[in-house]
Amino acid sequence: MILINGAELAEEILQEIRQEVEILVANGKRRPHLAAVLVGNNPASLSYVTNKVKSCETAGFRSSLIKRDENCTEQELISLIEELNNDPEIDGFIVQLPLPRHIDADNILLKIDPKKDVDGFHPLNFGRMAQGLPAFLPATPSGILQMLERYKIETDGKHCVVIGRSNIVGNPMSILMARKAYPGNCTVTIVHSRTSNLKDLVKQADIIIAAIGIPKFVTSDMVKEGAIVIDVGINRVADASTKSGFRLVGDVDFEHVAPKASFITPVPKGVGPMTVCALMINTLKSAKSEIY
Ligand code: GUN
Repeated sequence: MILINGAELAEEILQEIRQEVEILVANGKRRPHLAAVLVGNNPASLSYVTNKVKSCETAGFRSSLIKRDENCTEQELISLIEELNNDPEIDGFIVQLPLPRHIDADNILLKIDPKKDVDGFHPLNFGRMAQGLPAFLPATPSGILQMLERYKIETDGKHCVVIGRSNIVGNPMSILMARKAYPGNCTVTIVHSRTSNLKDLVKQADIIIAAIGIPKFVTSDMVKEGAIVIDVGINRVADASTKSGFRLVGDVDFEHVAPKASFITPVPKGVGPMTVCALMINTLKSAKSEIY
């Protein structure tokens, strides 16, 4: 079993980005600049956004963290997005999800200029991604592709089972794993909460990508010997023995699944840091006008 060290790999890629940034700056270009919008005080979201800002520092980017109160109106948020769309000093920005319930997240994502949509959540980027056109790829699926590539994991002709169908992970991941490319060329099955024979299908997988948001959902009896297991889950479960009162648990029962897997990602230090890394890659691409 090979443990995929997402934290180490992300750090390596961030250093490569930094080297490229320093060359750009030495040649008189503006430092890439990422802005992150955080609405409300969801502790997990705050932690994710803080990691994104830290990674900007490592990558040599400028960053701006823009916080808005939980009671911020949809219109106020739209005005902020318009400002960011029109700010020539900003290469890309993200609106951290989830948003408070009184705000229509789909409507908000539509207002982001696709040219600055470094999360790849705008339908234009999603559609371009689906058709194999140049696009900002959504950060988590893109980080997973980077992992598979850097660990030289063969995907051609494999059966990939994606667990979960969210617009952020499961849905785009399934499209990317099926496309004619490396990593890709998989036969893809998506399973979800309404799949009747979920266990049987997951058991057939050469590659399992778990993004269902349920702690330890994938148990060892669902995993074929030698499978590649990618765990996207970042679930907070109560743990009185830790300082924070919680610990992070993936969607995979790591302890029992790991001995059967050929490759597996841990939680934490697996997919999470790669998501942030993919966001940095998109921001650099935006600064270099590589997509649009
Ligand atoms: N919430 C969970 N994952 C993400 C992500 O990749 N980007 C944003 N903006 N919000 C998220």
